Amino acid sequence: MTSDRVVIFDTTLRDGEQSPGATMTHFEKLEIAEMLDEMGVDIIEAGFPIASEGDFKAVREIAQRSKNSRICGLSRANFKDIDRCWDAVKHAAKPRIHTFIGTSELHRAIPNLTMDEMAERIHDTVTHARNLCDNVQWSPMDATRTEWDYLCRVVEIAIKAGASTINIPDTVGYTAPRESADLIRRLIETVPGADEVVFATHCHNDLGMATANSLAAVEGGARQIECTINGLGERAGNTALEEVVMAMKTRNDIMPFYTEIDTTKIMAISRRVSTVSGFLVQPNKAIVGKNAFAHESGIHQDGMLKNRENFEIMRPEDVGLTGTSLPLGKHSGRAALRDKMEKLGYDLGDNELKDLFVRFKDLADRKKEVFDEDLIALMRDEAADDQNEHLKVKFLRVICGTEAPQSADLTMLVDGKEQQVTAQGDGPVDATFNAVKSIFPHNARLELYQVHAVTQGTDAQATVSVRMNEDGKIATGQSADTDTVVASAKAYVNALNRLIVRRGQDDVGYDEKSVSYKDA
Ligand code: KIV
Ligand code: ZN
Repeated sequence: MTSDRVVIFDTTLRDGEQSPGATMTHFEKLEIAEMLDEMGVDIIEAGFPIASEGDFKAVREIAQRSKNSRICGLSRANFKDIDRCWDAVKHAAKPRIHTFIGTSELHRAIPNLTMDEMAERIHDTVTHARNLCDNVQWSPMDATRTEWDYLCRVVEIAIKAGASTINIPDTVGYTAPRESADLIRRLIETVPGADEVVFATHCHNDLGMATANSLAAVEGGARQIECTINGLGERAGNTALEEVVMAMKTRNDIMPFYTEIDTTKIMAISRRVSTVSGFLVQPNKAIVGKNAFAHESGIHQDGMLKNRENFEIMRPEDVGLTGTSLPLGKHSGRAALRDKMEKLGYDLGDNELKDLFVRFKDLADRKKEVFDEDLIALMRDEAADDQNEHLKVKFLRVICGTEAPQSADLTMLVDGKEQQVTAQGDGPVDATFNAVKSIFPHNARLELYQVHAVTQGTDAQATVSVRMNEDGKIATGQSADTDTVVASAKAYVNALNRLIVRRGQDDVGYDEKSVSYKDA
C-alpha cells in the first residue's frame, strides 16, 4: 500500500474510555461518535461489546447512527467475543471486527498457550471473524516486544485467514521512533501478502513518544494511525489525534501524507471529550492546551504583532480557535451568547441555550466579566448536571474561620428526596465532604482533589476535580463556581453519581483464561 493517504482510526470510545475514571455515559458516547464522524474520522472504535451490556448497546447504536465513518468493535480471540462484537457492529453501513491476542512471551503466558497453540487460535478466530464480516482487523498485542520470527509468523497467519488490516500495537509504550519505523518496514518487506493489507500503528505514551512513534511508523509504511482525542487512554494515554494530524499538515514538506480530518473541528471535540471524560487538558498540551496559541511574553507579543509567523507555525483558526474576543457581561443578551458559543465550537439547541443563558446570567451577576473559559466551564457543569441523576446539591452554607472545626450545613436531593445535615471537619472542604458522606454513606476513597482558577482575578471561578475509587472502580467529577467550596461539593457529588452508574457495570478485563475460545 503506497498511497500518501493516512487513515485515522479513533479509539477514544474504547482505549480512551478504558482509562480509569474516564467512563462516559451512553448519550455522551453517541455525541462523541457523531462529532468524530462529522470531523472525518475514517474508523471509530466504538467500544468492546462483550465488556458489558452498556458497551454493547453503545456500539450498536453508534453503528446504527453512523454516517460516513466505519464502525469497529473490539473482541478478544474467542468466538463468543467475536459473535457479540458482530451483533453490535453489523448495523453499521461499514462495519469492522477488531480481534486481538497478546503475542509476546509475557502475554502468551496469560492464556498459557504455546506458540503453536496460539498460532492455531489466531487462524481460527480471524477466519471466524472473516466469515461474519468482510472487514477484519487483527492485532498482536504487545507486538513491539514479540519475538521477530514469531511476529512474522502470526502476522502471515492473520493475513492468510482474511484480516485486511494488521495493527502493530506498542501496548506498553516501549518502542522509539527509529525502531517503530523499522518494525513496520521490515514486516512489509518480509511477510508474504503484507503488501495486500493496511498496516496500522497503535502507540501508548508511557515514554512520551507516542506521537513520534506513530509518525515514524507511517514513514515505515503504516497507513492507519490509531489515536484518541486529547491522547486520552490508560496510564500515560494513547497517541493524540490532534497531534499526528496537525504534524502531518504543518510539516507536509517532510511528511508528505494527508488525512481527511477537518482540523477546524479539533478544539470543539477536544473540549467535549475533556468535559465528558472528566480529564482536564493540561494547559501546555500541544495543539489543544489553553496556552498552545498564547504568546504572553513581551518579546513574543512584539514579534507576533510584527509578523505572526515569527512565533506561530499553525494558525489558531486551523484547529477551530477563533481569535480571542471580548468578554460578555451581565447586559449581554441571548443572541450574543449564542454567537459566542458558536465561535467556541458549540452547536446548541434552543433548550440548551436557554439553560445555559440562566446559568450565564447567574454567573454574570457574581462576576463582572464572563470570559470564554468561564463559558466552557459552565458547559462542563451543565454536562455534569445531566449525570447527577441520584444525588444533587441543593443548599450549602459553611461556617469557617481561624478556630477549628469548621462546619457545613448541607441539603441534598437523594433520588428526589430532600435530606439535610450539619457536619464538622478540618477545614470547609473537609466539613462539606463529611456532610455528603453522612447523607450518602459510601466506602469510596478520595484519590485526588484539585482546584484550578478558570481565569484571573479574585472573582474567578474555581474548577474543582475529584477522583474517587471504590473497590477498583474509579470515577472522576468536576464542577466550577465562584465559590470554591460549592464547586468542591458539586464535584464530589458528580463523582459519586458516576460511581453509582459504574456500580451497575461489570468489567470483563482481559482475562483470557476464563474463555474457551471456540465456545459460541
Ligand atoms: O494497546 C493495545 O495493545 C490495545 C490492543 C487491544 C489493540 O489497545
Ligand atoms: Zn491500546
